[in-house]
Amino acid sequence: MLEETAAWRQPVQETLDQYLATVNNPHLEAAMAYSVDAGGKRLRPLLLLAVVTTFSGDGQQALPAAAALELLHTYSLIHDDLPAMDNDDLRRGKKTSHKQFDEATAILAGDALQSAAFDLLAQTSVAPETLVRLVQLFARAVGPNGMVGGQVMDMDAQGHQIDLATLQQLQAEKTGALLAVAADMGAVLAQASADDAAQVHAFASAFGRAFQIQDDINDVTETAAQLGKTPNKDVAEGKATYPSLVGLTGARKALGDEVAKAKHAASQLSVPAPQLLALLDYFETEKQ
Ligand code: IPE
Ligand code: IPE
Ligand code: MG
Ligand code: MG
Ligand code: MG
Repeated sequence: MLEETAAWRQPVQETLDQYLATVNNPHLEAAMAYSVDAGGKRLRPLLLLAVVTTFSGDGQQALPAAAALELLHTYSLIHDDLPAMDNDDLRRGKKTSHKQFDEATAILAGDALQSAAFDLLAQTSVAPETLVRLVQLFARAVGPNGMVGGQVMDMDAQGHQIDLATLQQLQAEKTGALLAVAADMGAVLAQASADDAAQVHAFASAFGRAFQIQDDINDVTETAAQLGKTPNKDVAEGKATYPSLVGLTGARKALGDEVAKAKHAASQLSVPAPQLLALLDYFETEKQ
């Protein structure tokens, strides 16, 4: 990742901290902050900011929208780890929320982070019609036809055989939608042209597909220390994943194909996009 992009982590963290400091209930604030501050790569905010800066937009102005993505993502992780879903004990190298606190607290911390994400997004200082557009894009990406719909497909597929096309749709929704909307919101904020916005969307969609394939691969190839989560959990839970459907070699090939598609989309932009291309290092250097 470019230093220029990584440098946004600190302002994103400050935006998150400032928001969490406004939570009145100390128990709830502690549970929300526990998961947000457990770390995480902050890829979704960084993707939004990379798009904004690619088109010479104002990164500072985009911070509430960027941080909103992380609040929403953290909610999704807390709920994903619940006993009723993936039943995980370890997340971001720490105990999962329901292990650290209890199930009710974890459910409510997730609920609170979800609504907080919309509140923070609404604090973005842009024209009212732009804000409505951002809120609508975000809601659609994370709702029933986006992330939550994908999580439902994931749960429905547990213990069952599904075909590759179904797995691809599942992954596009559960993981791809939030990454794609990070890029779409960045394009709106930077007032990118329609052509550029379409290519940025194509870039982020391929990035999202690669990202979940990598996550599936990591589950079977990495240690708990590397993952910050329990390894080999997908097989244990009977999850439909790339390695379970097409094997590790097939998964690596699919990953390479998606990274190539992302590169192609970036090359079609009207401006050079080193910030976006550098995000692809996540696949090529860190993990392969
Ligand atoms: C994990 O996301 C959940 C998936 C969508 C695969 P990340 O790998 O981005 O998790 P953090 O934010 O770095 O912890
Ligand atoms: C999680 O997918 C996707 C969302 C949280 C929306 P996974 O279940 O594969 O993520 P990990 O492996 O637990 O991080
Ligand atoms: Mg899951
Ligand atoms: Mg999970
Ligand atoms: Mg996973």
